[in-house]
Amino acid sequence: MSETQAIDWEGRYREGTAGWERHGLNPAFLSWRDSGSLAPCRILVPGSGRSLEPLALAEAGFDVTVVDSAPSAIAMQRAHFARLKLSARAEQADLFAWDPDAPFDSIYDQTCLCALPPGLWPSYARRLHRWLRPEGTLFILFMQNDRPNGPPFHCDIGAMRRLFASPAWAWPDAMPARIEHPSGVAEQPAVLRRL
Ligand SMILES: C[S@@+](CC[C@H](N)C(=O)[O-])C[C@H]1O[C@@H](n2cnc3c(N)ncnc32)[C@H](O)[C@@H]1O
Repeated sequence: MSETQAIDWEGRYREGTAGWERHGLNPAFLSWRDSGSLAPCRILVPGSGRSLEPLALAEAGFDVTVVDSAPSAIAMQRAHFARLKLSARAEQADLFAWDPDAPFDSIYDQTCLCALPPGLWPSYARRLHRWLRPEGTLFILFMQNDRPNGPPFHCDIGAMRRLFASPAWAWPDAMPARIEHPSGVAEQPAVLRRL
């Protein structure tokens, strides 16, 4: 099995052990959408899983693409879109063997980075950069669980600043408060600009 597929996500969906799932929209997502900072555009949701945000984005008029390697997650995303006759794209693929036809305006990363073994983070960060157009925006939730192992892997903010560093990325002057997750961990929302 390849390093990028070393974790059996499909098995977790089938066994019903998807403890990271929220049963509603992420409060950070709602805040970004309702404030207009996340406004209709061409957007990618990598490692979408079965999350509800892609459907909410498509309903709000975004041009949505989701990518996930787990077949049942992609089947569920397709079913969500089909039920409401929304023309979003759901691709089953390994993110490390995938590229879009054209860059995106925005990317929404909710527990995708933290699901990847940290050894893959530099490659993933380069891909996020490549998938965004210049001045595009990365809406990301950095997992804060202070645990040595994962997934989810702790996204130390100092390490994130080094991973998403200038001159490739620009950080905001201030970040919003952390978001609590029902599983007992926290997420640090951040909006990074792709330079
Ligand atoms: C922790 S889950 C998060 C799912 C979703 N974002 C959510 O918030 O519920 C991580 C997701 O990333 C997907 N994933 C992990 N590694 C991947 C890879 N190399 N390529 C594509 N998808 C991947 C898994 O299949 C899983 O659905």
